[in-house]
Amino acid sequence: MQVSLIILAAGQGTRMNSDLPKVLHKVAAAPLLHHAMAAGHALEPALTVVVVGHGAEEVARAARDYDEDAQVVVQEQQLGTGHAVAQAAPMLADASGDAIVLYGDTPLIRPETLQAMLDARDKHAVVVLGFHTLEPGRYGRLLTQGEDLLAIREFNDATDKERAITLCNSGVICANAQTLFELVAQIGNANASGEYYLTDIVELARAQGLSTGVVICDEAETMGVNTRAQLAGAEAGFQCRARAEALENGVTLTAPETVFFALDTHIGRDAIIGPNVIFGPGVTIESGAEIKGFCHLEGCHVSRGADVGPFARLRPGAELAEFVHVGNFVEIKNSILDEGVKVGHLSYIGDADVGEHTNIGAGTVTCNYDGVMKHRTRIGKRAFIGSDTMLVAPVTLGDGALTASGSVITEDVPAAALAIARAKQINKPGLATRLMDKLKAIKAAKQKG
Ligand code: UD1
Ligand code: CA
Repeated sequence: MQVSLIILAAGQGTRMNSDLPKVLHKVAAAPLLHHAMAAGHALEPALTVVVVGHGAEEVARAARDYDEDAQVVVQEQQLGTGHAVAQAAPMLADASGDAIVLYGDTPLIRPETLQAMLDARDKHAVVVLGFHTLEPGRYGRLLTQGEDLLAIREFNDATDKERAITLCNSGVICANAQTLFELVAQIGNANASGEYYLTDIVELARAQGLSTGVVICDEAETMGVNTRAQLAGAEAGFQCRARAEALENGVTLTAPETVFFALDTHIGRDAIIGPNVIFGPGVTIESGAEIKGFCHLEGCHVSRGADVGPFARLRPGAELAEFVHVGNFVEIKNSILDEGVKVGHLSYIGDADVGEHTNIGAGTVTCNYDGVMKHRTRIGKRAFIGSDTMLVAPVTLGDGALTASGSVITEDVPAAALAIARAKQINKPGLATRLMDKLKAIKAAKQKG
């Protein structure tokens, strides 16, 4: 059956105390909005509609960054969740199958939970995601009778007896798309907040003789972000889950609590991740690769059998082929390192292509930026770059080329050539002793006088 997603992301998020729209604050290096979209995308939706309002342009851009086919609709005034869903109606006029309403500020809902809601649609016309909590606070309360959901009561409208209920509304709702819009069209705003409550569709559905039910999930999944403290809590929740998943998938984490994943981090089975490793967005680590402690990686690909760190930084566009070795205090950016390349210590390799089995000595720097433009360094196969070589790009070194330590390479080096580009050494016999004696004499004379 077809599924459509409606993601509500028009709210301001006043309590974040921020210039940035709430759904653009990040958890696991990705905007909150992307988390909601990712959960929904696992269901392979036919269409995703994001309802935007505050910071509409920025939020719309973020939505399309995640999914270029995402549709965006602007809710000019935030008149409530029911009103927000109604904005999506024209875009889903032809949608068949179910629609799932998600909130852009609720990042930890699992795809499996959404699937359970779709499954529960066999029994109920409207399915609401609920959770039990010891701190029901201002959540909407689920009024149930046996298996049936009778109504959702918003906190402001609830009696004391209803407020004592600890089964709450997560906000996620699933129904046939056309049924949803028919119900939403009937929502009024005669309530304590004067808002159009999406939650009213439960009672409206029942009045039409439709069945309404609840799927219950863990409270941790339904955590919404309204404050910076909750943002930090969501980060912790995400990391906790990502670490457990990595371990489950056969990844070794020496100290799981010190490793931080991004929403889109991919790590293959039998990879080994040391302590204090941080993954930014866009990282793929293949099976059997090892990332030693204290590394920072983003936008990079590390192939099978490669090893990185400790204390290495891989920046966007770093592509490490099989059995590449990147050692301590090395930074790699926008560079392709072919099979078996070694960069052991203290080097910066940026905007470079390095051929297989080339060895790059300690302290090598690709001087890739002239202050205005970036330039590429190309190094062939089985080359040997002496320690402390400056490769002033654009520059090309052929297969098997060798550079003398301390060289500043400004011209291309042909294959199999040795390039020496440094001042010639001169030895002056006895001059060291004479110089020292002279300096000592000057110091002694100064101390006397
Ligand atoms: C809502 C639910 C409540 C539930 C809670 C869970 C309603 C009426 N209440 O309350 O039962 O327990 O979520 O967190 O649905 N939004 C818009 N346009 C609007 C209003 C809201 O896009 O006009 C978006 C917000 O950006 C947010 C989401 O909808 O992403 C929820 O809105 P919010 O105002 O936080 O709802 P709650 O009062 O928390
Ligand atoms: Ca809320």
